[in-house]
Amino acid sequence: MISMAHRVRDFGTTIFFEMTELANRHQAVNLGQGFPDFPGPDFIKTAAVDAIQHDLNQYAPGTGQPRLRRAIAQKMEDFYGLSVDPDSELTVTTGATGAIFATILGLVDPGDEVILFEPYYDSYLPATLIAGGIPRFYTLHAPDWSIDEAELNALFSDKTKLILINTPHNPTGKVFSRAELDCIARLCQQHDVIAVTDEVYEHIVFDDVEHWCLATWPGMADRTVTMSSAGKTFGMTGWKVGWAIGRPELVQSIVRVHQFMVYCGATPLQEAVATALQTSPDYYAKLAAMYQSNRDFLGDVLADVGLNPLMPKGTYFMMADISHLDFPDDVAFCRYLTTEIGVTAIPPSAFYHNPADGANIARFAFCKTRAVLEEAARRLTKLK
Ligand SMILES: Cc1ncc(COP(=O)(O)O)c(C=O)c1O
Repeated sequence: MISMAHRVRDFGTTIFFEMTELANRHQAVNLGQGFPDFPGPDFIKTAAVDAIQHDLNQYAPGTGQPRLRRAIAQKMEDFYGLSVDPDSELTVTTGATGAIFATILGLVDPGDEVILFEPYYDSYLPATLIAGGIPRFYTLHAPDWSIDEAELNALFSDKTKLILINTPHNPTGKVFSRAELDCIARLCQQHDVIAVTDEVYEHIVFDDVEHWCLATWPGMADRTVTMSSAGKTFGMTGWKVGWAIGRPELVQSIVRVHQFMVYCGATPLQEAVATALQTSPDYYAKLAAMYQSNRDFLGDVLADVGLNPLMPKGTYFMMADISHLDFPDDVAFCRYLTTEIGVTAIPPSAFYHNPADGANIARFAFCKTRAVLEEAARRLTKLK
């Protein structure tokens, strides 16, 4: 008799898969899944083609192509003043998702506690559970998603191994402030806990808000794993080129898992990302400006049709408050929106351990062409 292992029995298919299927069936404008529907920059595509043509097509070193490791280290120095040894303090992974899994499996023993902010990115919880870790949830509340130090402190115990922070935060669009990172740094040092920071949206921040890298806090470089990915920064989510940065002992824990999961990522794509990271600093400002303009457009649309947008400070996601509408929950609303209005959003209850906490919101992605956002706007007017 064939049966699934216990460790995966409770994992359903992801909400993205479900909603995309529903969107396809109803020809809905899909503002659900967070991938750009426009072409990535030519400089990165040309670099990948060149790498393939130059026969950089065999296995990369398990920790990544040396050129890419050097480019990532240089970027950390340029953007955050963080000095990283490209040979011992960083490893390339199969997307940030690979970094998340390998980090959690490499650092968390069965029975260790892991603090997660919810709503959380959907792979954090399965990764924690597969490692045998015990999740402890800090629930961020709309509209400002702020943190209370005493409440967070109460989640730490002598079993806490790590705390996972995602800033800028998917799905709320929150960017953790300096004061909040001060608080997290203080608690990590007080309780001897490792911080894992998922910074995949580091270059997508709006208005006058700045993204801060926790590893630069006094005392935190020794206990922080910083992750990012080329997927969001260069709009190439299908390439799955990510990385994790930390002290050699931390990186070794990650490498030990990652080498047996996949051994290495795609060599020519790593070469192309190395080239892309050396692009002009203008690129990053333009990227943020383009997404800010999409954010403002979608914010106006949602407000106009009576879906109260909670304007994000970063990422390419926007939450809308639906509590005033007559729907039993976010799933019912998102199904209605897809099947009756022709626009798909994601029900955020999937990102809370208690789905009721996400029942009054819906998540829209604005990493789409203006034409697609305009079509969504046209359809959403039916809600009025
Ligand atoms: C917060 C967050 N972390 C990680 C990832 C995954 O990154 P990658 O595609 O590089 O695996 C995503 C993708 O949506 C994300 O939103």
